[in-house]
Amino acid sequence: PLPKSVKMVEVGPRDGLQNEPTPVAPAVKARLVDMLAEAGLTAIESGSFVSPKWVPQMAGTPEVLAAITRRPGVSYPVLVPNLKGLEAAEQAGGVDEIAVFGAASESFSQKNINCSIDESLARFAPVAERALANGWRVRGYVSCVLGCPYEGEIAPAKVAEVAQKLLAMGCYEISLGDTVGTGTPVKAQAMIEAVAQVVPVEKLAAHFHDTYGQALANILAVMEKGVAVVDSSVAGLGGCPYAKGASGNVASEDVLYMLDGMGIETGVDIDRLIAAGAYISGELGRPTGSKVARARGGC
Ligand code: HMG
Ligand code: MG
Repeated sequence: PLPKSVKMVEVGPRDGLQNEPTPVAPAVKARLVDMLAEAGLTAIESGSFVSPKWVPQMAGTPEVLAAITRRPGVSYPVLVPNLKGLEAAEQAGGVDEIAVFGAASESFSQKNINCSIDESLARFAPVAERALANGWRVRGYVSCVLGCPYEGEIAPAKVAEVAQKLLAMGCYEISLGDTVGTGTPVKAQAMIEAVAQVVPVEKLAAHFHDTYGQALANILAVMEKGVAVVDSSVAGLGGCPYAKGASGNVASEDVLYMLDGMGIETGVDIDRLIAAGAYISGELGRPTGSKVARARGGC
């Protein structure tokens, strides 16, 4: 049976823009975040406290956080890879949720955060501990859950192992990233079944990139296994700087259209969401990556 409601987690301002070569002004990012909140999204990933040498586009995260008009009931999580990032998040102010990000692939872990999987987990533990002591919520990512750009196939058991360790650290939710978008529905279901043996399915989120055009099919497939949290990116923005060839996350507008069409509650308004996507596409000077927005907006 499919879930009656789905929580949509918007990652466009972070995952979508982190790979964008043209600098996007903090005021533009904050306006995007505000429009997404006005559309009814209640979780909007708004930046990263990572090395500005590695990901220059996220350097303005403190300015973005300062410029957002905070709405009650909306969280604005940021990525934090280490204690240095956590300290920066504390100094920025206004943070109440962070995400730590690990991987199920050793090679991807090295390329993305310059350490092994075990080293990354050892780094995340004190970060999570201090964030929880601050009264913040901590979300955990696992990348490469359906394949790795460097290693190819990834065993579902490895995904489950990393997910379980992140849960044990105090993460309230584990977001499973198909970083390169190579997954297909039956494989996605098998991966969820493996992870759900060690992490309750209510605590799992699907974070699927659409590089191979499989994301919507994979989302529906994992919803059939009980997943009711879906990450997506408005206008299909983005890619990962350390996953060559990865295109954006599945477009939020396309996910919402599918859920609306199945009578599944989200609390998100499609017209306002399309308006947010049109705004950022206009700022970037390129057509939207959402098929629904193109069909509705004629651009
Ligand atoms: P490192 O070089 O191993 O770190 O990088 P280090 O501790 O040796 O420090 C080196 C330099 O970085 C020092 O500066 C530090 O101060 C600085 P220097 O002395 O050379 O001037 N530094 C920092 N600066 C600001 N904020 C920090 C920070 N930490 C160290 N937090 C590090 C390790 C993790 C920092 C680096 O590899 C990094 O920033 N990587 C970027 C990772 C990233 O943002 N990737 C994209 C997000 S993940 C993703 O997209 C996947 C996801 O969407 C899920 C999916 O799709 O699968 C989540
Ligand atoms: Mg991602």
